Amino acid sequence: MLVGKRIVLGVTGGIAAYKAVELCRRLVDAGAHVIPVMTEGAERFVGRATLSALASEPVQTSLWDEVDPIPHTRLGRSADLIVVAPATARLLSAYANGLSTDLLTNILLATRAPVVVCPAMHTEMWEHPAVRANVAALASRGVHIVEPESGRLAGGDIGTGRLAATESIVAAITAALAAGAASTAGELSGTHVVVSAGGTREPIDAVRVIANRSSGKQGYALAAEAALRGARVTLVSTVELPSPAGSEVRAVETAAEMLDALAELAPKADVVIMAAAVADFRPTTVAPGKLKKATGMPEIVLERTPDILAGLGANKPPTQVLVGFAAETSDLVANATSKLQAKNLDLIVANDVSAPGVGFQHETNAVTLLCADGSTIGVGLTDKKAVAKVVMDTVVKILMTKPRQ
Ligand code: PMT
Repeated sequence: MLVGKRIVLGVTGGIAAYKAVELCRRLVDAGAHVIPVMTEGAERFVGRATLSALASEPVQTSLWDEVDPIPHTRLGRSADLIVVAPATARLLSAYANGLSTDLLTNILLATRAPVVVCPAMHTEMWEHPAVRANVAALASRGVHIVEPESGRLAGGDIGTGRLAATESIVAAITAALAAGAASTAGELSGTHVVVSAGGTREPIDAVRVIANRSSGKQGYALAAEAALRGARVTLVSTVELPSPAGSEVRAVETAAEMLDALAELAPKADVVIMAAAVADFRPTTVAPGKLKKATGMPEIVLERTPDILAGLGANKPPTQVLVGFAAETSDLVANATSKLQAKNLDLIVANDVSAPGVGFQHETNAVTLLCADGSTIGVGLTDKKAVAKVVMDTVVKILMTKPRQ
């Protein structure tokens, strides 16, 4: 359950902060990708270097010192889970009351991932009605609370308030992840989702091609998310990436091969997502063998490739959700809207590929989802997995409005 999961580990300023180091190590050992976020108070109890050395990424503490201008939304959206251990009375109060005073509280407000909070403080504080009310408010909103244990506290006092044992926190994290997965797990079971990924390559001669910069990362993230939700997934792909568990890969190279694969697969699919960057032009003829420099400058005549997505839109079964992508460098919404309408799509995912960190090859993307019913959803710069989650949430909603097969 923990393997490959992105876990933000929030550490606040209590004596139990030193135990967050052990928690971090245990999560990393179990295969999680741990991103530590410390408050100013936490830094008085444990060194940045210690957590940075054990975690998967260096410690982050501030809203202001990253190249990324909005780290809280990036971290909040891309996390599979957020755990705060230890959580002080101040953190509980800020979180319960929606206060965004530092990076950690901003992340907590900017996430839809499951949150596990592990309070630790002196008994009198833990039993104070204000703290009890904040804990109750958080629990009523679905935050997982790992109650503190009874035992020796700082200064030699004995009582309830000691941070729960690391094993209990890891167990709560695993259970919260399992519950989160279960809530979307079956959403697409019984459906067939077809996703195209990568850039087509159109041959000029035996060795040269016209290509584009698509890495296939966004398409593979979509396929993985659909498979996680229980769909049977077929990836029509021009790239060799590890295939997501539960998906079958159909390897293609040219626009013509992609067209053939989709012509076969799409008519019976419940969802078709064209994330691939299909060449718009290809050489009219492919030179046999390798064109030789000595024979002079070749004249390459281009012709249009078939618009695969437009063809799918024209023949779309009424039960199907058809999704296109739009890679734009200007007039994002206007251009994407005309593709949405012209190609008879249910949804188009528009990315401005001229913006830093967006689109081709990056690990990240920023998109605007434009639905056929006129609704729009903006997703700021975040990793492609998080984009895939939002796209798939929207696909599931549209699928529910379609007549059943
Ligand atoms: O692969 P990555 O490196 O992760 O990058 C992701 C991405 C930038 C490739 C992806 O986010 C994206 O934008 N994919 C669509 C790229 C594209 O071809 O956009 P377009 O605006 O030119 O085409 C619009 C739609 O028509 C697309 O769904 C495309 O697949 C489809 N199309 C285009 C031309 C054509 N001949 N046939 C098509 O089906």
